[in-house]
Amino acid sequence: MKLIVANWKENPENIESANKLVQTSPNLSLVRRGTGQENKVLFAVPNVFASELVKEFENEKFILQDISKFENGSHTGEVSYKMAKNIGVAGSIVGHSERRGNRTNIQGDRDEDINQKLKNLLNNDLLAILCTGEANREEWKKMLELQIKEDLKNIEFTKLEKLIVAYEPIWAIGNTALRAASKQEIEETLKFIKTILPGGKNIKVLYGGSVDEKNIKEILEIEDCDGVLIGRASSDLEKWKNLLDNLV
Ligand code: PGA
Repeated sequence: MKLIVANWKENPENIESANKLVQTSPNLSLVRRGTGQENKVLFAVPNVFASELVKEFENEKFILQDISKFENGSHTGEVSYKMAKNIGVAGSIVGHSERRGNRTNIQGDRDEDINQKLKNLLNNDLLAILCTGEANREEWKKMLELQIKEDLKNIEFTKLEKLIVAYEPIWAIGNTALRAASKQEIEETLKFIKTILPGGKNIKVLYGGSVDEKNIKEILEIEDCDGVLIGRASSDLEKWKNLLDNLV
């Protein structure tokens, strides 16, 4: 089974459009053409839509795109894992490059914040998709090793069953992407990630960055690729339909 994670980011503008995106992808029929393999879709949605989507689509799984590192309290604008869990949300993305601290987003998360968020989710039986990736391809091994080591610090091996790791090279993501990573780059990187993860092959590893209707099939054929994390092509109804049509 391969995971298709739709990361809507700051889209769509209203709940009607959100409903349409979910209706387009009923999980039951998502068997990959030619392979007979089953796919499972997970939607990473804006917080404001989560409650309504969970109620409307009982058979689908919804996660948030980020979560507070705090349990509760005076933290304006934050949403806690307990709030998410109590409305039926299955977990959250953590450490997306658009939320991590870097030169353009100095307020963003540091590895210790990401580590705390992961602990909150994994200790409470929630799903956590940890995003990791380098800004320049040349530094990929060093960056991934560093991020994974710091982000998973002191998290027990027994808590890792709900952890998913997504390799998201920053240079391949979003509107400023140079290009999608090549098949060979994805292959060698996912293999490497599985060798450095404490749970090794038992932890699902995804690829994310400019995944679209043209490259998704080839990417999902990669042996160590357990799925994809899709941004732009997942929140535009036409693109999303085309992508799924090409797949099943
Ligand atoms: P993209 O985004 O598919 O638009 O490149 C991927 C992501 O940021 O998760």
